[in-house]
Amino acid sequence: MPWISACSTDDIDAEDLIRWDHGAQTFAIYHSPDGQFYATAGRCTHEDVHLCDGLVMGHLIECPKHNGQFDYRTGEAKRAPVCVNLRTFPVKVEAGQVYVEVP
Ligand code: FES
Repeated sequence: MPWISACSTDDIDAEDLIRWDHGAQTFAIYHSPDGQFYATAGRCTHEDVHLCDGLVMGHLIECPKHNGQFDYRTGEAKRAPVCVNLRTFPVKVEAGQVYVEVP
């Protein structure tokens, strides 16, 4: 699977996320409070809502629609109504760029 440059590390504030679209796929890319970067599928597993307008709290992303939560490091569903885990993707940072391994 190829590594695709998604954004600069400066494009995402700490404890925030952005939407990133690649081809027909959409992702959410996170900058955690401890300085790490993560990527998940962009859409909530509960309904078809993008997580980019959600709230990052520590290592959790809270969905903007019904406030379900996932751990964006693992994709694990953490608070109802979400019960299906979120897909995650490998991320690496090189020379100030965030790369996502895209399927
Ligand atoms: S759409 Fe995300 S919790 Fe309902």
